[in-house]
Amino acid sequence: MQVLVVFESMFGNTEIIARAIGKGLATSCEVDVVNVDDAPAEWDGLGALVVGGPTHAHGMTRAGTRKSARQQVEGGVRSATGVQEWLSALPTASRQVPVAVFDTRLRKARWLTGSAAVGARKMLLKRHGVPLVPPESFFVDVGKNATILYDGEQERAEAWGSRLAARLLETAAG
Ligand SMILES: Cc1cc2nc3c(=O)[nH]c(=O)nc-3n(C[C@H](O)[C@H](O)[C@H](O)COP(=O)(O)O)c2cc1C
Repeated sequence: MQVLVVFESMFGNTEIIARAIGKGLATSCEVDVVNVDDAPAEWDGLGALVVGGPTHAHGMTRAGTRKSARQQVEGGVRSATGVQEWLSALPTASRQVPVAVFDTRLRKARWLTGSAAVGARKMLLKRHGVPLVPPESFFVDVGKNATILYDGEQERAEAWGSRLAARLLETAAG
């Protein structure tokens, strides 16, 4: 089963999580992990799509919030565009595609922080995505200039990826 993981990342944390999820998925699926800047314009033919990005201003990033993130780092950010822009341009799939979404955000109640994953899920469902699991969040702490992942989050992401692979295989087997 071919699975595509698309990530957006400013400071690198969501990229680390996406690659760990890809590692977990690779236990039983063929996986590609791509930056949203290089993500394909079509998704027909995929076995499943996993999408994740950083939470900005309670939701998915926007041009203005990415500009603000860019001002916080030296040496540039990982993604130039955002998951929201990519999903907006993604056509409705000709058949249902299993999807899963994740984000990175501060470790506080979701009603306080917001969640990029919840927004991405809504956009995918409108385009024939079928959710495999609820949205998942991985947590960052506020560092000096940027945010950094809490210890153990990378391992948790890999385990989430492995569980996702198992769920996909169960679903495919009917
Ligand atoms: C402009 C901006 C706005 C942010 N807004 C939120 C927010 O509303 N809720 C939250 O939990 N984290 C917020 N954060 C923290 C980000 O979620 C965090 O920097 C991100 O998860 C790190 O992922 P990255 O390294 O892949 O960019 C914000 C960060 C920036 C730069």
